[in-house]
Amino acid sequence: MNVPSIASQTGTTDLVDITSDDNEPKHAGDSQKLRCAGVKKTFKGAGGGPAVEALSGVDLYVRDNELVSLLGTSGCGKSTLLNIIGGLETASEGLVEVDGEQVVGPGPDRGMVFQNYSLFPWKSVRKNISFGLEVAGWGKSDRVERVNDLLGVVGLSEFAEALPRELSGGMRQRVAIARALAPEPDILLLDEPFGALDAHTRRSLQEFLLTLWQRTRVTILMVTHDVDEAIYLSQRLYVMQSHPGRIAEEIEVPFGESRGPMVKRDQRFLDLRDSIEDQLR
Ligand SMILES: Nc1ncnc2c1ncn2[C@@H]1O[C@H](COP(=O)(O)OP(=O)(O)O)[C@@H](O)[C@H]1O
Ligand SMILES: [Mg+2]
Repeated sequence: MNVPSIASQTGTTDLVDITSDDNEPKHAGDSQKLRCAGVKKTFKGAGGGPAVEALSGVDLYVRDNELVSLLGTSGCGKSTLLNIIGGLETASEGLVEVDGEQVVGPGPDRGMVFQNYSLFPWKSVRKNISFGLEVAGWGKSDRVERVNDLLGVVGLSEFAEALPRELSGGMRQRVAIARALAPEPDILLLDEPFGALDAHTRRSLQEFLLTLWQRTRVTILMVTHDVDEAIYLSQRLYVMQSHPGRIAEEIEVPFGESRGPMVKRDQRFLDLRDSIEDQLR
């Protein structure tokens, strides 16, 4: 099996538009990696109670190499939507496509990370990251190379043999991200990935995710209820509202690809935050 290293993924070969007149490298930003069309989800009411309309017809897309957030208050259907995209939950109506292929269940083209670092507690960091590769039938030397690569990317080479309980929450979540990245998914689906972390660790993991995205160019759809986090990390974001769960607005974030904490003091950042917070109130 051909295993491109993380370093080679930072190359521009996939990203260059060879049909363009100028030779400027471009991101393949026009091709859609993920598309949801008219996604509805109704849950049966518990104990014969009224049905819950968790999603009432969601249209969205994520471009190749984009980092997009789904932002909304608790209960607006973010996890339901992400689980439908991940194939863990079925839509009542509508369509989800990854690379033009309809999603009918979980698959190695979508890597998922949840809030509560769902690592195997009895497996070492290395074995946690390697697990999906074994399932996918990767040969041993490819697995070792890929895992070593990823340990470097997430800054945990020295902890390869540690067990999850020996790590801090932030480190565990980096392992979960490495594990989700290992089989080279087309898209990474993150559900409140930093929600269980203290404020300081959360900020450092936000920087980590931004750097990871800049280096690997993996396409990311992230769920969050944190307005600052969504603006700071995303190229684009969807603001959701509840009862019924729906997309209220799509916002293009104006800060380009390389950004640092300074953008949080940019007037456009502050204005955007105010207007989103008004909307969520
Ligand atoms: N398995 C389920 N059965 C019944 N209702 C559910 C189920 N999962 C979620 N819901 C309901 O759907 C709505 C959206 O939930 P969820 O997607 O978890 O929201 P969020 O992730 O934005 O907090 C909520 O009203 C929730 O109670
Ligand atoms: Mg949720």
